[in-house]
Amino acid sequence: MPLKDMCSQVGLDVTKMPRHVAIVMDGNGRWAKKRHMPRTYGHKEGAEALRKTIKACVEFGVEYLTVYVFSTENWKRPEDEVGFLMDLFRLLIAKEIPTLNQEGVKVRCLGDIQGLHFDVQDAIRKAEEMTSKNSVLQLNLMLNYGARHEILQACRAMLERGKEDVSFSVSQADFESELYTSGIPDPEILVRTGGDVRVSNYLLWQIAYSELFFLETLWPDFNRESLIEVLKQFQNRERRFGGLSSDH
Ligand code: FPP
Repeated sequence: MPLKDMCSQVGLDVTKMPRHVAIVMDGNGRWAKKRHMPRTYGHKEGAEALRKTIKACVEFGVEYLTVYVFSTENWKRPEDEVGFLMDLFRLLIAKEIPTLNQEGVKVRCLGDIQGLHFDVQDAIRKAEEMTSKNSVLQLNLMLNYGARHEILQACRAMLERGKEDVSFSVSQADFESELYTSGIPDPEILVRTGGDVRVSNYLLWQIAYSELFFLETLWPDFNRESLIEVLKQFQNRERRFGGLSSDH
């Protein structure tokens, strides 16, 4: 079915679709606790919710999906939970790649990848290699990612360029070329599930003009319908980028 029909079937306007959706997948632990289950069960179900979200993004022609998988601050969690998450990432990345590849998903893992366990790094390398030619949807898995770290690293790169060429003056484009997200358009939408209203060191530069959605939904409960609801609300919001509305 053509994209236009896929969208209008669920009440979306194909001419107003975002190219890039970013998500903070929060609430896995609480979801499990509510069911008297260990937090790790919540993470497994969270992976399922991500699978559904990827499918829905493909269905509605979203070009980039960027999800916060593990932050530079998540190392502070108990050692056994960190260990579980690393195992889950490795297993999931390896297991899901053939399906993602079939669907035309290009996987990128962005963040301080060298700080991750070696076996996770290995799975990442394989996944990126295997899917590098795909172009239906780019899935950015933000792993060991922190926005302040990313921004500082870009500043350092600019200083280096300044040393090599004293006439170098930093443009926005120069700076962006040193971010992990270089070459990727800014997200039009940032969703955070789990009820907290904060950004938690996520994509601080890139979300300057994003529409923000803070949902009470716990991440494992997020699904195709939740995404459609966010997209509908996005299409009804007026984005002015600091200018005036058309009927001022
Ligand atoms: C936040 O919930 C979630 C995480 C830190 C892990 C997210 C990981 C997944 C959804 C698995 C996806 C894996 C891959 C490889 C893509 P929380 O634990 O902070 O929940 P809480 O706020 O209720 O404690």
